[in-house]
Amino acid sequence: MKYINKKLSIEKIKVEDIAKKFGTPTYCYSYKRLKDNINNFKNNFKSFSPLVCFAIKSNTNVNLIKEIRKLGLGADVVSMGELMMALKAGVNPKKIVFSGVGKTAKEINYAIDKKILLINAESKSEIIEIERIAKNKRKVVDIGIRLNPNTDAKTLKQISTGKKENKFGVDEKIFFELINYTKLSKNIKLKCLSVHIGSQILDHQPYEKMLNVIDKIIKKSNHNFEFIDLGGGMGISYEENTKKLNYKKYNLAINKFLKKHKSKIIFEPGRSIVGDIGSLISQVIYIKQNDKKDFIILDAAMNDLMRPALYGANHKTLPATKHSRLSKKTYEFVGPICESTDKFTTLKKFQKLKEKDLVVMCDTGAYGMSLSSNYNLRPKAAEILIKGTKINVIKKRQKLDQLI
Ligand code: LLP
Repeated sequence: MKYINKKLSIEKIKVEDIAKKFGTPTYCYSYKRLKDNINNFKNNFKSFSPLVCFAIKSNTNVNLIKEIRKLGLGADVVSMGELMMALKAGVNPKKIVFSGVGKTAKEINYAIDKKILLINAESKSEIIEIERIAKNKRKVVDIGIRLNPNTDAKTLKQISTGKKENKFGVDEKIFFELINYTKLSKNIKLKCLSVHIGSQILDHQPYEKMLNVIDKIIKKSNHNFEFIDLGGGMGISYEENTKKLNYKKYNLAINKFLKKHKSKIIFEPGRSIVGDIGSLISQVIYIKQNDKKDFIILDAAMNDLMRPALYGANHKTLPATKHSRLSKKTYEFVGPICESTDKFTTLKKFQKLKEKDLVVMCDTGAYGMSLSSNYNLRPKAAEILIKGTKINVIKKRQKLDQLI
């Protein structure tokens, strides 16, 4: 995304033109950036060619998942809905892994019938349930066990998953117990150790620690894991000058690990694949003056982009047309929803805006649309994919009569 003749453009298409043609609020994705992200991700780890399973939860748009599948990725799913969506997008079941602490019998049944690569179990009760269902079907099901490595991911506490107080995975003691349990089972085969310590991780050290923990546990277990699923979590730069994850060091640590353990590595990245490919285009409805600041009331709200309200996340906000007149007052960008947390960002030095101007919230490709809701009975935004000179509507704006 860049300014061409003062007009903010996504792959040479002006934001202004997109808004004119498709209305606002609209999510807009860049195919070029998607392709670059996937190629970069693969290149970072090319020495051991991992199986890369895109975390569907970060963006559930079927047409986008199709493009991701065509670029060679599998899928990481956490519900029957996500599994159905991955299959609908044509993802090969042998490239699908299923995570999550609360898979129901119906979901397990479906996953077994679809012959996916692995069900990554997160508790003894779940393993017993998978075994019961597999036995009924007279099948042998390949599973993983998610280990909780008790590693601090050094990220927001709301998106940390690898500490022992988190609900995810099992601790070392139960992990060993479960290995022994699966050895005696005729209907489940333990093929994978999985971990996922959190999201938006920018420091490679938690990953190194996690690998050390796994290394020790595997040695102690004496079990041969065909797969090691390292989860996702690779962070992106939401703000300029934030540090970047050092992929070289993460790659080195994995290579060191692989010298001792001959397993196939699986990754489950979401944000690092789609985070920076997406922008949310929105229009200023009103500007409401307050003595200390002006409220810029947008037509996008927390139902469209939940991350600021949920995590205090900040998304870089840019005007669609650039000029040099600065506003004298602080701007608070808000949505029309009846909640005080329906607020995107507060900026001191923004260019002067007027009603009907367009603004863009950047890096909203991951956990933007997928976390959206119909709160306040607001229809969901449209989604557009820019691919070369083509602009495709990959999801139509929801209509009110679909809601009423
Ligand atoms: N694998 C598992 C088991 C996960 O739970 C997650 C994310 C991922 C992979 C993908 O993580 P990523 O590469 O995208 O960091 N809504 C939050 C993020 C929650 C992440 C939940 N799990 C946000 O908007 O920041």
